[in-house]
Amino acid sequence: MTAKIIDGKQVAAAIREELKAEVQKLKARGVTPGLGVILVGDDPASKSYVTAKERACEEIGLFSDDNRLPATTSQAELLARVHKMNADPKIHGILVQLPLPKHLNESEVLLAINPDKDVDGFHPINVGRMVLGQKAYLPCTPHGVVQLLVRNGVKLKGAHVVVVGRSNIVGKPLANMLVQKNDQANATVTICHTGTKDIGYFTRQADIVVAAAGHPNTITADMIKPGAVVIDVGVNRVEDASKKAGYRLVGDVDFEAVKEKAGLITPVPGGVGPMTITMLLFNTVESAKRTTI
Ligand code: GUN
Repeated sequence: MTAKIIDGKQVAAAIREELKAEVQKLKARGVTPGLGVILVGDDPASKSYVTAKERACEEIGLFSDDNRLPATTSQAELLARVHKMNADPKIHGILVQLPLPKHLNESEVLLAINPDKDVDGFHPINVGRMVLGQKAYLPCTPHGVVQLLVRNGVKLKGAHVVVVGRSNIVGKPLANMLVQKNDQANATVTICHTGTKDIGYFTRQADIVVAAAGHPNTITADMIKPGAVVIDVGVNRVEDASKKAGYRLVGDVDFEAVKEKAGLITPVPGGVGPMTITMLLFNTVESAKRTTI
């Protein structure tokens, strides 16, 4: 069996078209949704994510306020930027690109963001709301994973989903979203992580495997039940002299082998990646809509 490929670019493009229409409606009422972006330092991967986020804003008609700060930025300077954006009515969403340089206190920065502008969904208030099943900004990557599944007709109710990885950005929120009692969840969820003795024992029982471990080849074909859905959240750079950049991107899944066993699978790149930014745009538009109610 060769798996059907889930096209993240196509799903992302469909959602972005829906958002463009929403943005036009907001603009007609005098509101341009605005995203404040803060990048500290010059980590190459973070730089390219932030550039892609700014481009995406432009593409659907959002205003973006780009703040690229040097790696030497102090905690006080960074907090001052956040406070300024909290008070700025043109900014509906605030994104501080993670990870921050080591000398900065990440939790204090996330706590400083006004929860109503926390379009990343990382503020403890939004995390709490999400866990309680209340209305909240959902973190973009896990929200994108859920949209990919739902929009590809994958049934979540009663499905056994095994999430491999327990990061605050992907694994933990995704597991929480999928156990909620609503139409886009209601799954049975197992979380595996570096403390799990035999990850394959769990993934072989899964109807859906989500790989978010951050290491190439974490998921191999012997770990997958025939016909299962495999979502690869990993973005790993591996050296490749044949590429101009000297590297290529691979996920956490051994794609070539797993695609022969799975029923549905996301590629890297072109799977989950385009969804993350799309859900950031979605949250920013939602925030702008709330100001007009
Ligand atoms: N770093 C990796 N993923 C993310 C994300 O979704 N948001 C932010 N702010 N930083 C990240």
